Amino acid sequence: MTASAAEIQARTLAGYADASRLRQVHDRDWVLDQVTGDPRVLLDLGSGIGQLLGTALDRFPSLRRAVGLERSPHRIAEATERLRPYGDRVALHEADLTAPRTLPHRPDVVTMTSVLHWLYPDERRIFEWTRDHLAPDGAFLLTTYHPTRDEHGLGGEDDLVRTVLETQHADVPGLFAAHGVLPIATRTRTTEELKPLLERYFRIEATLDRDAVVTVESAGQYEHFHAATFGDYYSRLVAPEHRAGFFRAVGDTAWRRQAETGHVSRMTVRLWRLVAA
Ligand SMILES: C[S@@+](CC[C@H](N)C(=O)[O-])C[C@H]1O[C@@H](n2cnc3c(N)ncnc32)[C@H](O)[C@@H]1O
Repeated sequence: MTASAAEIQARTLAGYADASRLRQVHDRDWVLDQVTGDPRVLLDLGSGIGQLLGTALDRFPSLRRAVGLERSPHRIAEATERLRPYGDRVALHEADLTAPRTLPHRPDVVTMTSVLHWLYPDERRIFEWTRDHLAPDGAFLLTTYHPTRDEHGLGGEDDLVRTVLETQHADVPGLFAAHGVLPIATRTRTTEELKPLLERYFRIEATLDRDAVVTVESAGQYEHFHAATFGDYYSRLVAPEHRAGFFRAVGDTAWRRQAETGHVSRMTVRLWRLVAA
């Protein structure tokens, strides 16, 4: 049975709470472990459905304000529901991080997890904005993902998508280019590229690396993770009537890959602890 476009739309980007258990959740505690002292204001950039903010509010009773900036109104709505019990300790704002507006907050902690690649190539604006908003002794805790990329700039999730599309197309990098889909591994700058970019605005106090290994319990679980994390980013490479099949094929390919290699994907995640330069 073929799913309707509405069904596909309903499941893409929904279900992030479940899907993020595979990868993003690990960043959340790792990042919050780096918070020192008794923070008063924490700002999360690309706050999604508010999970990091909720964890921070539980972990740090000193927090009088946890602020989220997020582009998606659906995610803000879900975060609003999740964080309602915290009352006025929470402030959520709809915002585009590539063109951020001035805010009245002076956070002593700013976090950004699993977001930076979506801002490529405009990351400078949010770096400058963060430097200007941080409290004098504040720290910016940033995570960045680093899949291995090939000569076409594809890697990580792109590679899985390429395996799916190769059954129909001889030149998948050309198909990406023709549809204006920038490979995520290209959006994700290397640590060598990021370092000088960050050093224009911050002093790098420390970096920590972890190996993010994604494994799943079923093809369907990965299909769901892909849809909730990437939405229609890649599926616009196929005709609307083939999108349900595309999501299924991504799940099946991930499951096969895990059977062959022991995991679906593996990449370094870097945590940067940054202070004003
Ligand atoms: C992979 S999710 C990460 C969410 C959360 N930080 C976490 O670690 O679970 C990326 C988030 O960045 C948001 N985002 C992407 N581009 C954005 C932009 N230009 N401005 C604001 N938010 C953006 C997306 O809507 C999404 O919620």
